[in-house]
Amino acid sequence: MKTLYVKDIKPGGGVVTGETFALADIRPGTDKNNRTYYDVSLSDKTGSIKGKIWADSIQFVDKTAFKVGNVVMIDARIDQYKGQPQLSVTALKGVSEELLDEYLQSSQFDADKMWDELLSIVESISDEGIRALLQNILNDEVLAKKLKYWPAAVSVHHDFRSGLLQHLLEMYVVAEGMERFYPEANFDIVKAGIFLHDIGKLEELDSQGVNIVYTKKGSLLGHMAIGLEIITAHLPENFPINTLLHLQHIVLSHHGELQYGSPVLPATVEALIVHNIDNVSADARKAAQAISESVDEEGMTSYNKWLSTRFWNGV
Ligand SMILES: [Fe+2]
Ligand SMILES: [Fe+2]
Repeated sequence: MKTLYVKDIKPGGGVVTGETFALADIRPGTDKNNRTYYDVSLSDKTGSIKGKIWADSIQFVDKTAFKVGNVVMIDARIDQYKGQPQLSVTALKGVSEELLDEYLQSSQFDADKMWDELLSIVESISDEGIRALLQNILNDEVLAKKLKYWPAAVSVHHDFRSGLLQHLLEMYVVAEGMERFYPEANFDIVKAGIFLHDIGKLEELDSQGVNIVYTKKGSLLGHMAIGLEIITAHLPENFPINTLLHLQHIVLSHHGELQYGSPVLPATVEALIVHNIDNVSADARKAAQAISESVDEEGMTSYNKWLSTRFWNGV
């Protein structure tokens, strides 16, 4: 049984004996004596921690278990590197992956509750056609099951279990606040746009072991094109052509810039709202995640290449 979680590992000595983690990353390197060592990343549902497997310990590593995505049992020394704990792994072997949930990082918010909230938002849509489209997707068992637990990304933001669902709810909260000041906008379209904007991620991404990866289809088409396919496959009969056009436009324009993969720029008030709220949720989460993972003694994170800055925790 797992007794030690990443969040409880503090720098400053001690050993880890027979604890299980998911092997999230393996990178070989060469030490000063020209011998191979490995930088690894070990994770569980509470976070991930860096580790080293030095040349002297490699003989105690079970080669068949030493693959990214596997759950492994390790012995290690807890060292310190730049103020952060780091594991020097002295032995590693494979274990069963049955209890995968123990190793996956999840949203800090309850998935069942968030799911109920999403269902009631869909219920609140007054346009029958739009509501029926979203309900057709919710009635698709394969998609609905994924939507409840899918991450929003491989990395970058909301890259944890139920991350996509949390991302949608964060967006709905902001949209709700704007509704009062935009009587000229159609908030049924905004609500559906939020629901649909990243729906293609359900087929763009997949999980292998504990790692999130791009599917072949995801790599070749991307989530916007896949999103259009999902809409077409779940379209109710006699769906108004302009409503369809508007929702397709929101999906295609939601990244807001040609260099971020959108073939068109947001051209309606509703599309601009969805695009900008998408950024609010994604960017704030990038910062919050980076800060919760590690800050130095001044409360600063390392440089974040996505937002081109270091974040500060404000204290
Ligand atoms: Fe997206
Ligand atoms: Fe998004």
